Amino acid sequence: MTAIVRIEDIAKHVGETVTLQGWVYNKTGKGKLHFIRLRDGSGQLQCVAFRDDLPEDQFETAKALTQESSVRITGVVKADERAPGFPGGYEIAVQALELIQAAVDYPITPKEHGTEFLMDNRHLWLRSNRQWAILRIRATIVRAMRDWLDDNGFLLVDTPIITPAAGEDTTTLFEIDYFGEPAYLAQTGQLYNEANMGAFGRVYCFGPTFRAEKSKTRRHLIEFWMLEPEIAFCSLEELMDIEEALVTHIVQQVLAKNRMELEIIERDVTRLERITAPFARISYDEAVERLQALHAQSEDPEQKELLQITWGEDFGSPHETALAEMFDKPVFVYHYPSAVKAFYMQPVDGRPEVCRSVDLLAPEGYGEICGGSERIWDEALLLDKLKQQHLPVENYQWYLELRRFGSVPHAGFGQGLERTVAWICGLPHVRETIPYARLLNRKYP
Ligand code: 4AD
Ligand code: MG
Repeated sequence: MTAIVRIEDIAKHVGETVTLQGWVYNKTGKGKLHFIRLRDGSGQLQCVAFRDDLPEDQFETAKALTQESSVRITGVVKADERAPGFPGGYEIAVQALELIQAAVDYPITPKEHGTEFLMDNRHLWLRSNRQWAILRIRATIVRAMRDWLDDNGFLLVDTPIITPAAGEDTTTLFEIDYFGEPAYLAQTGQLYNEANMGAFGRVYCFGPTFRAEKSKTRRHLIEFWMLEPEIAFCSLEELMDIEEALVTHIVQQVLAKNRMELEIIERDVTRLERITAPFARISYDEAVERLQALHAQSEDPEQKELLQITWGEDFGSPHETALAEMFDKPVFVYHYPSAVKAFYMQPVDGRPEVCRSVDLLAPEGYGEICGGSERIWDEALLLDKLKQQHLPVENYQWYLELRRFGSVPHAGFGQGLERTVAWICGLPHVRETIPYARLLNRKYP
């Protein structure tokens, strides 16, 4: 028995005879020589089957291998600069080959397929190079998020997915039947984070969140993952410092750990190398002025129409994209009109029409990746806001109570994982950033 090795570790085994277990990505060659591209989940390696090196029946099996058949291959590891693969530069001279299961008519062939077809076959599409690379980057991003928070005094405290009350806009609630009573899938863990903040000071939750949003944009998912830190005794300015440090750390970790994956997806890494603190911080007022100036200059009527904005309106995608294009790093926009933001946001002192909120807009048209604010910490004011927005106050008793026992100024934000992945990977649509996307028109597979 030879040692079973993972392709990602292949460099450590040059000159040794090893066994690999995986799937046939593709196969080329003719006559006496066949090249099998083997993938094992950790990487891809060229396996060279030369007729004289292996038993005849096994060579015949190698010749007949089909795409995605599962195999076990034993051979000698060689370093060869020209060998393709992930990581490239190594190959195996095959000595033995065992077919585990022969795949017949694998539906995803090297020819071009339409997106809907690929999404229908998502359970198989995940095996393709691009998807493999994207989801590996997603894993690095998740780890970077958690590592940074764990190393900076935050405690992971999980929040429930089934909730009795809305945390954000009531129009996007997913209602479920909770033994005859209505309940909702969490839109955010924030309200519970605020309670947890009272117990642990600096907390975060990280889990799936749900929005029954009838939007079909390239930035919206029905189910998405959100990282939500919440910090006691924190101002909006300190919150921006935290977001800036976290986002910078995430990008640096991807650059450090995923060069190969970034190359597979052909990401322009120079755009990512620029992402260093500090990021520009502009107020909503200034953002509106900048957009209005751009609107005034614009000569393209279609563009002009899209850039139209009046103070008080929320930004749409075209506004966010135009603003982000004015900077080559992410940009913070703070103090939005209270009317377009959630009930819990602290009004600005002496100017209650705007609130202590901040959105972080990603470069290259990826829009808002983080949304956060200072939270109202005065009970009477919070109660007023709940009533103004016609929220059922009885469901928020515990949340109000947090303002009665040692209330403190505090702030937090939510960072959308999939939008962050889309931006860092440079993908046109969030559907490829999550293993199984839930979209307005899709819940299969
Ligand atoms: O701005 P949002 O709605 O903020 C909250 O939910 C706050 N309670 C978070 C907090 O302060 N703890 O969402 C935060 C982020 C957005 O910036 C965006 O990146 C992402 O979550 N997001 C979505 N991502 C994909 N699909 C959707 N439908 C999303 N909605 C929000
Ligand atoms: Mg938001």
